[in-house]
Amino acid sequence: MDPVRNPYAPGAGQRPPELAGRDRELQQFEVVLERVARGRPERSMVITGLRGVGKTVLLNTFKSMAIQRLWGTGKIEARPEQSIRRPVAAALHMAVRELAPRHRAPERIDEFLGVLKAFAMRDPSAAKGTTHWSPGIDVPAARGRADSGDLEIDLTELLSDAAGVATDLGVGIALFIDEMQDVPAADISALCAACHELSQIGGPLIVVGAGLPHLPSVLSASKSYSERLFRYARIDRLDREAADLALIVPAEEEGVAFTSDALDALYEAADGYPYFVQAYGKVAWDLAPRSPITAEDIKVSAPEAEEELAVGFFGSRYERATPAERDYMHAMAQLGDDPVATAEVADALGRKPSSLSPARDSLIKKGLIYSAERGLIAFTVPHFGRFLRAQPV
Ligand SMILES: Nc1ncnc2c1ncn2[C@@H]1O[C@H](COP(=O)(O)OP(=O)(O)OP(=O)(O)O)[C@@H](O)[C@H]1O
Ligand SMILES: [Mg+2]
Repeated sequence: MDPVRNPYAPGAGQRPPELAGRDRELQQFEVVLERVARGRPERSMVITGLRGVGKTVLLNTFKSMAIQRLWGTGKIEARPEQSIRRPVAAALHMAVRELAPRHRAPERIDEFLGVLKAFAMRDPSAAKGTTHWSPGIDVPAARGRADSGDLEIDLTELLSDAAGVATDLGVGIALFIDEMQDVPAADISALCAACHELSQIGGPLIVVGAGLPHLPSVLSASKSYSERLFRYARIDRLDREAADLALIVPAEEEGVAFTSDALDALYEAADGYPYFVQAYGKVAWDLAPRSPITAEDIKVSAPEAEEELAVGFFGSRYERATPAERDYMHAMAQLGDDPVATAEVADALGRKPSSLSPARDSLIKKGLIYSAERGLIAFTVPHFGRFLRAQPV
């Protein structure tokens, strides 16, 4: 069928034509926004899940919901070993820029921007002598606020000042952090402390995160009270009904249907994982000669979809691993698809567990595996074990 009208959207952070099966999370976030705006105590939300289940897309949807309520919003994507100071400054700059035109007292905005600039300029990793901050804030940097160099103190002051600006307007500010598991440990701890402080003064600013399944344990290792700050929403594969909707609704808009056998075959192939649903849907659409799309069309198109996934979804990640890390993952894959004990992996490789810690740690850092519970590890990428087992070693 006409590829120009193909509605499906496989790709990182690509907005799906139909956001299926996330009603519960959307409702929860509505409640969070409403309660925070009213100054009620509320835990913020942190979305967790495997690669390609739709965390980024959901986070972006939350952001749109906040914007609809006239909140100020900003978003960062955390990177390993990169301090969040500058990215947070840039994100809050965006958030306050959204609010500024509606604010009646421009000097309040300028005051905040001065603090923001001072905060950003304390970045210890910035090259010496580069005191100016490129995203052009014209006001001079303030002194004596958010500029101590201690991220915990500075964040607390910055976030509460930002919340103050939002309070003037009767709205809130939401700061979104994607790949939150990659925020460096010291920064996570500062961030939690700042959120903790803010929740005590009831400021209308929330930090909303998304990350891999071990994010809750990263947060609680950092601050024992993190469970009282965040409500964790683990998102997963779509159930049959939701996966069908994700395919049917966009097709219907183009006057295209699926036979029920085709939907059976698609669910079998994609296993409900949102990325796979989009990937198989897209190729099936392109190769099907006419509506309705049949089980035969799925059978014909599946190999091409798998090939695209092997390159774009699995291969691009596999490429990031060193030979030693690949051996480690192959050994994991041979042990099955459930979380496996690190000791078992060592056994399978005929090595001492301690000698494998560097490979394991760096795979965790690269976001390819995660520690499911103590001593157990699993792939962050769905069906990765199957992909590896099909690879020539
Ligand atoms: N609820 C949904 N219904 C249908 N498709 C979805 C849904 N959520 C996400 N998708 C699709 O799944 C794909 C992956 O989404 P997204 O990039 O948000 O995943 P992710 O969890 O952030 O992955 P990663 O961990 O790799 O960053 C996209 O192509 C998106 O369109
Ligand atoms: Mg993502």
